[in-house]
Amino acid sequence: MIWVYISELLLYLSFSILTGTLIIQLVPKSLKPTILLNKRIVQLSIIGIMVFSAAPVLRLVQIFYKDQGLLEAMLNVIRSFEVGRAWSLTVVIALFFFLLVTFFPVFQNRKLTILSMAYLFALILVFAWASHSTSIANWSGFVFHTLHYAAVITWVGILLVVGWFSIDSRNWLQFLSWFTSVAVICLMFIFGSGIILMQFVLDTKDYGNAWAIPYGQALLIKHLLILPVLIFAFINGIWAKRKLEQKEKVNPLPWVKVESVALLLVFAATAVLGQQEPPLNIDQTLLNNGPSALFDFFYAGTIDTVENIQINFSNISVILFILSAIFALIMLYAFKMRASTVVSFVMGLLCTLCLYLGFMSSIQ
Ligand code: HEM
Repeated sequence: MIWVYISELLLYLSFSILTGTLIIQLVPKSLKPTILLNKRIVQLSIIGIMVFSAAPVLRLVQIFYKDQGLLEAMLNVIRSFEVGRAWSLTVVIALFFFLLVTFFPVFQNRKLTILSMAYLFALILVFAWASHSTSIANWSGFVFHTLHYAAVITWVGILLVVGWFSIDSRNWLQFLSWFTSVAVICLMFIFGSGIILMQFVLDTKDYGNAWAIPYGQALLIKHLLILPVLIFAFINGIWAKRKLEQKEKVNPLPWVKVESVALLLVFAATAVLGQQEPPLNIDQTLLNNGPSALFDFFYAGTIDTVENIQINFSNISVILFILSAIFALIMLYAFKMRASTVVSFVMGLLCTLCLYLGFMSSIQ
């Protein structure tokens, strides 16, 4: 199963790099640092989308091929399953996209860059079509998944491309002058659509109860991993900007890199989340599959219904929450003291870990 999670993570990464590369291409030179990009990156991202979006298809083929044989199972999945049909459409669109990028100057011609973005948007729509949210909530699931995903890969894509393909940090204040607003708008869309997507699968009052099953665990860990991302976004979007405006010497690139790595952890949690059975009926899921291994580790008794779950913040939980606040402050202090970004990153992980242990130690 790990291979499906890794493939999903690489799929989100391919979509993000493709989105970031095309958007940055449209930004005037005076509003961005010097970024080394070539169409090879776009070609590789398109191939990545074709290959890594096949994982859910192969997972289904793996179930059927023993009875039906490989070819029959492949054809059966592609013809009669949503993920199979979505994948074949993804491959067709990606192939034409690849030919466009290979034989036409998409980097030199603005119209062709915009045509490339139309292809990208078509791939985002097909991805949303095959999602949990669409299978559960049809059109509204489709629309909010598209919004959520498009906002995520726009924000993460620009961060990844500027963070890892820039060779200097000139024009940084000019870059922040537009990117900070884009990041804030994306975040608002991500949170708004994320909460709505969550409500398609889970009643908010069941948020704690869902920790008993893998989907709920993955969703909690995803949310707790977002906190360090927001702290890095504050450092990069506001604090570094203020220091640069006061003519203080700051090298922003390592901090953008560490923010993008923290975001990849959110991608990893989401890759696991997307493959778990949605908690439409938690008790039924518990009955069918038993509690999540992580929940089992923290919950002393046996559980057959979430009715029995009580959430009471014990002294231990409170101490752990205080510790996580301290680690969050050290993340900021590390930037103030110009310490290595690794220190801040590790403090971010410890902040998330203490929050997680705080919540898990509060279930009785
Ligand atoms: C930095 C912030 C976030 C990132 C990078 C992120 C990333 C993603 C990605 C890549 C997907 C698509 C998963 C797929 O279909 O395979 C997704 C889906 C989802 N996200 Fe987020 N998200 C973020 C914030 C949130 C927030 C704040 C919430 C809820 C409050 C949320 C709830 C969801 C839900 C419920 C899904 C659908 C998962 C499924 O069942 O397939 N996300 N997110």
